[in-house]
Amino acid sequence: MATAYITRRERFSSAHRLFKPELSDNENYELFGDCSHPNWHGHNYELFVTVKGAVNPELGYVINLKKVSTIIRKHVISKLDHRNVNIDVDFMSGVLATTENLAIYIWKELEPRLHELSVELHCIKIKETENNFVEYYGE
Ligand code: NI
Repeated sequence: MATAYITRRERFSSAHRLFKPELSDNENYELFGDCSHPNWHGHNYELFVTVKGAVNPELGYVINLKKVSTIIRKHVISKLDHRNVNIDVDFMSGVLATTENLAIYIWKELEPRLHELSVELHCIKIKETENNFVEYYGE
């Protein structure tokens, strides 16, 4: 049976601030740049969830992507969209609200649930801006 990788895109808009509370605003700016501004700001993120699976010979597809979308929306998008990543998002509690950490913790949310659908999570990609994106492969 052939194996294919299929990707679902979802979008969310969230506020965040990158900072370490023990540092001054200037020190945080040195580390985190514009994302350290004290009074929050937002991004329009794009999330790409790629799963790997066998192409069903009868149906010609790996999985109905609607099922993947439903899981992403229920467990990730509903918690992030129009929320503050630093304050509102249970799976981001206690970690810096970077795009890298979003990718890692979204992976933790989705991996077991996608496994139940008999597909394997391959990659979480998040675009924070037109020019900056992160890919995470679970390691
Ligand atoms: Ni930012």
